[in-house]
Amino acid sequence: MSRPKITVVGAGNVGATAAQVLAARDYADIVLVDIKEGLPQGKALDMNQMGAVRGYEPNVTGSNDYADTAGSAVVVVTAGLPRAPGMSRDDLVATNEKIVREVTERAVEQSPDAFLVVVSNPLDAMCHVAKNASGFPRERVFGMAGILDTARFSTFIAWETGSSVKDVTAMVLGGHGDQMVPVVSATTVGGVPLRKLVPADRIDAMVERTAKGGGELVQLLGTSAWYAPGAAVAQMVDAVLLDEKRILPCTAYLQGEYGIDGLYLGVPVKLGAGGIEQIVELDLDEAERAALDRSAAAVREVVGVLST
Ligand code: LAC
Repeated sequence: MSRPKITVVGAGNVGATAAQVLAARDYADIVLVDIKEGLPQGKALDMNQMGAVRGYEPNVTGSNDYADTAGSAVVVVTAGLPRAPGMSRDDLVATNEKIVREVTERAVEQSPDAFLVVVSNPLDAMCHVAKNASGFPRERVFGMAGILDTARFSTFIAWETGSSVKDVTAMVLGGHGDQMVPVVSATTVGGVPLRKLVPADRIDAMVERTAKGGGELVQLLGTSAWYAPGAAVAQMVDAVLLDEKRILPCTAYLQGEYGIDGLYLGVPVKLGAGGIEQIVELDLDEAERAALDRSAAAVREVVGVLST
């Protein structure tokens, strides 16, 4: 049986990390594409040589040519500028809109049946760009943010409670911005509701740190994070290509779900061989519901700035 092909557009930190995590999974061939000559080729060569140490088959191709991406089952779009200190994700909208539109058009020309996983910021708006540029149905165009935001929230909860992060169940919804909505009512540690374990002011502090989690990393690193983002992308690709039917928070095009219409927003979805197979509607409490509406309004504002 031939292996599926995964294209990762953008050989920067996030794209390369996603490619590397997926290469180590050893079930797909990966094409890393970038406009910069030498960069995707060099990173691909390095990853293949890592396979000799870690025991996976060399399976990564670096390229500057979209012809090499033909027939991909999944295309991951990480191209675009990352944040610099002091920048919000929304500050990137004009530059990255152009880049995301262009790479989407070129990628779907080669892979008309692919699933598109969008990672470029501002994430929710860039999902709109990819959907419009591809003309694909919503089942095949979705964004990575919720898994990353949830990973940050879960990490803080594990530290706060002195528990294994494996036993933390959490879900962060909404846009990938400071208005994101960690759903405290649905958060448990070993099945025990978070509110029974941690006082309200400590929970509020973790919610706040999560919402500003990307900015905290930009301050430290001088650019956007990549280890957790890259791994989160790989988890989504796994769910689709291995037909896992995972319920994961992803940025999905809502058509009435959660009372929101015509907007990309982070919600729990079932991800499997059909892409988004279902949008899961959680029972939110009143404060969470209001926070989700505020987050949606913030995303609508950025989407309104798009030129298309
Ligand atoms: C972050 C960037 C990737 O949240 O948006 O780290």
